[in-house]
Amino acid sequence: MNHWRTSHERVLAQRQAEGWMFLIEAVRDMRTTGAIAPSSKALARTLTAPLRSQPSRPLSVLEAGAGTGAITRALIPLLTRGSRLDIVEANPRFAARLNHLVATHPHLSDRTGQATVHESYVEELDTGHRYDLIISGLPLTNFPPHQVERIMSRYMELLHPGGTLAYFAYLGTRKARALASSRTALRRHAAVDAIMTDYQRAYATGRWTVLANLPPAHVWHLQRPLVDVVDRPSHEADEARR
Ligand SMILES: C[S@@+](CC[C@H](N)C(=O)[O-])C[C@H]1O[C@@H](n2cnc3c(N)ncnc32)[C@H](O)[C@@H]1O
Repeated sequence: MNHWRTSHERVLAQRQAEGWMFLIEAVRDMRTTGAIAPSSKALARTLTAPLRSQPSRPLSVLEAGAGTGAITRALIPLLTRGSRLDIVEANPRFAARLNHLVATHPHLSDRTGQATVHESYVEELDTGHRYDLIISGLPLTNFPPHQVERIMSRYMELLHPGGTLAYFAYLGTRKARALASSRTALRRHAAVDAIMTDYQRAYATGRWTVLANLPPAHVWHLQRPLVDVVDRPSHEADEARR
């Protein structure tokens, strides 16, 4: 009982420390950090569902924008022997924390090299690999349209044909921005929305709503086709940018 309480308290203290770290980074740079708190267990579970649906197959997985590791922690125990996980994070303080997580996680103790942290922008990442699953935690609605285009087309390139991109988008950002943003910011947000709508129309295989998260979010799964018919969706996003 005492032992349980000690380890339970240790986990709680660790979560609290991560919560503070996340908040400090959000204050430092809200545009890149994109939220005030790490993702909830419910959101992490929905994003990692594709791994649970193919439990015995070795998969290659990329997690982009891992922050303090809220999703990484849900992901690691699902990795079968022979699977590979690349974790990319642009913020060096988060990357250091993720390196510690990978070095100390019990599931990885006898699996040297199964998970690797890359301190980099995902759009500049080149591991020389393609992935069965990409889990993106990036705050895309905070970015300029040209960066969103670059990231989305890079994700599609990095996926194996038939591979899945799982990402989330917070609910209510459009309304919040309509109240608080300048015209330029609203135009930028509409252009990003149009890009994402085009990708959803072309590639979406599912959407879930996760209310138990701060803020609540939609989780999207997009699938790269087995055979590429067109380069990328374009018309609506191009019109919005004009
Ligand atoms: C909304 S937080 C999500 C953190 C974590 N995945 C979670 O769900 O709690 C977004 C993360 O993406 C990182 N990030 C932002 N832009 C990035 C980029 N271009 N490449 C890699 N990481 C990026 C930020 O530093 C931050 O850690």
